[in-house]
Amino acid sequence: MKLKCFLVEQWMTDHENDCRYNLTDTCVEPLSISQLEQLTDCSLMDTIASMPLDYGPIVGSDDLRQSILSLYTTGDIDNIAITQGTNNANELVMMTLLKAGDHIISMTPTYQQFYELPAMLGCSYDLVSLDEENGWKADVESFIALINNQTKMIILNSPNNPTGTSFDDEWLKTLIDACRERQIYILIDEIYRGLADKTPSSIADLYEYGIATASLSKLYSVAGLRIGWIKASHQVIDNINQMRNYTIISTGLLSDFLGTHVLKNKELILARSRAIVNQNKDNLKAYLTHEKRLSCVIPEDGTVGFLHYHFDMDSTTLAETLQKETGIFFVPGSCFDKEYHLRIGFTRDPEMTLAGLKRLSQWMDEHHY
Ligand SMILES: Cc1ncc(COP(=O)(O)O)c(C=O)c1O
Repeated sequence: MKLKCFLVEQWMTDHENDCRYNLTDTCVEPLSISQLEQLTDCSLMDTIASMPLDYGPIVGSDDLRQSILSLYTTGDIDNIAITQGTNNANELVMMTLLKAGDHIISMTPTYQQFYELPAMLGCSYDLVSLDEENGWKADVESFIALINNQTKMIILNSPNNPTGTSFDDEWLKTLIDACRERQIYILIDEIYRGLADKTPSSIADLYEYGIATASLSKLYSVAGLRIGWIKASHQVIDNINQMRNYTIISTGLLSDFLGTHVLKNKELILARSRAIVNQNKDNLKAYLTHEKRLSCVIPEDGTVGFLHYHFDMDSTTLAETLQKETGIFFVPGSCFDKEYHLRIGFTRDPEMTLAGLKRLSQWMDEHHY
């Protein structure tokens, strides 16, 4: 197996701890346990202090799986497998269902895991390009045209990192109709789904071979709990739970308990996230009306967008230089194989984010861009 660098994750590892203006993060401002206690008006520390730091129920507590099920419209708790974040959820799905010689279809730009991990397993892949001119959308027929006899899975991200693209129900149903007869799985990483007023259905509620993955990392501000999940048919979940025995065993009692608490208070936490994300989007919209060296398709859902800069510099050099000279932290488009772009996050303190954008304009002035 040939290991390729996971560019966006490596960039985050190398750059995220040394910045003044974090303009790129995907996780809404992380919560501490005491902030969580305050926000949900509940004391957690006594329970945590006396909790054995044990594995906990191996497949996840019924309470946790029931809380996750409340995010969907169909199924029972045996349709849910608990994972260590979405990254591990995607990995478990791919390791369990794909084999060398299979073909998968994904898109670009997107999260590199969706095609690199299948490639490492010996699969071939085709990618459909998202079209910025068309609001970073892609024609469903472009995916259908790539289906062949070896196609085992279509792997999407909705809303997408980094473009914010969402696929609506009509789009998904057309794709499902083209996949059903050949029993092609549709795996959608839905980690950013659920913030907008009108969120499309989960693929796991629409299609018997649909598999949804998600976690508490982004919209729920508790990435460090490493609670993620997979929603799929009983058969797929049974197989994945077999695979889990070889890989993670469990996510642990402490995370199970806190994750359940977060989901039981999801409305309060999502309201906080929505307020931060919407304020940042409004600020960016207003800022771009008078900053013509930049443009952005500001998505309706999700926590990130893909900022287009209109001057000639490669994105790696730009991101490195900005961080060094101003403390502004962006992930460059090069990490998504797309130049002249920077990933912008709507996740952090709106005042800091706006100050960072103003500093960016000042920097472009100083360098005569
Ligand atoms: C599309 C996508 N999937 C998965 C992950 C990893 O998330 P988690 O913390 O749930 O493993 C990320 C993180 O940036 C992401 O953007």
